[in-house]
Amino acid sequence: MNVRVYKNADAIGAAAAALFAAQVIAKPNSVLGLATGSTPLPTYRRMAALYEEGAVDYSGVTTYNLDEYVGLDHDHDQSYYYFMHDNLFKYINIPEEQIHVLSGMAKDPAEECKAYDAAIDAAGGIDLQILGIGRNGHIAFNEPTTTFPPTTHIVDLTESTIEANKRFFASADDVPRQALTMGIGSIMKAKSIVIIATGADKADAVYAMINGPVDPQCPASVLQLHPNVTVMLDEGAASKL
Ligand code: F6R
Repeated sequence: MNVRVYKNADAIGAAAAALFAAQVIAKPNSVLGLATGSTPLPTYRRMAALYEEGAVDYSGVTTYNLDEYVGLDHDHDQSYYYFMHDNLFKYINIPEEQIHVLSGMAKDPAEECKAYDAAIDAAGGIDLQILGIGRNGHIAFNEPTTTFPPTTHIVDLTESTIEANKRFFASADDVPRQALTMGIGSIMKAKSIVIIATGADKADAVYAMINGPVDPQCPASVLQLHPNVTVMLDEGAASKL
C-alpha cells in the first residue's frame, strides 16, 4: 500500500482528482469505480473544476458506483444515484448511458447484482476505483463479517452504519435497512484503487486496514493484498499510524 498523508481534505481531493485526470487522459474510455459518502466530495469538486477548465474530457468514460440503498428510487434525494448526479455527473460530460448505479428498486435483486458484475467484466473491468472507509472498516456496504464476499450482493446494514448515515435522513428509522453492494471480490478486481479517509474518527479503522491482520472483521484490510492501492489520509485519519 502506498500511504500518503495530506494537510487537509481539499489537498486530498486535488491529489485524488489528479489520479482520475491522469487515468482519463491516458485512456479516454476508462472505466471508473465511484463511491458516495462525504469523503469523495472534494475529489468530485476538483474533477468538475478540471472539466470546467478544459483539462479533462470525460465523454468516453464509463462509471460503476459501488452501492445503492434497497427501496429508494433514482429520484429519492438520498439515493446514491441522485447523490452522484447532484455532486458530480451534472457538472461533467459523461453520457447518461455510460453511468451505472445499481437499482435499489430491482424486482430481482440477485439478478440485478449478477448482471452488474457481468456488465463490469464486459466493460473490461474497473481501471481506477475510489473508496471511502467506514469507522468499522467497511468498504462499500461490505460490513465486518466472517468471509470476504466475492461478488455484488444484497446486505443488511449494521446498526453502526445506520447510525452513521442517519444524518442524511429525517431519523434513524428512515434509513433503509438493506443495500446492494459490490463485493470485496468485485472491488479487488479493480486495476488500481485509491482509498481516502479524513478525520480522527477514522483513525482506528485506518490503523486496522494498514497494520492489522487481513481479516473480514475489518473488510478494508483485504486491500493489503491488492497490488496497486494508494491510501490518502489527512493528519487526523493518520494519527494512529
Ligand atoms: C459509499 C460507500 C461507503 C462509504 C463509507 C464512508 O458509496 O461505499 O463505504 O465510503 O461509509 O462514508 P463517509 O465518506 O461518508 O465517511
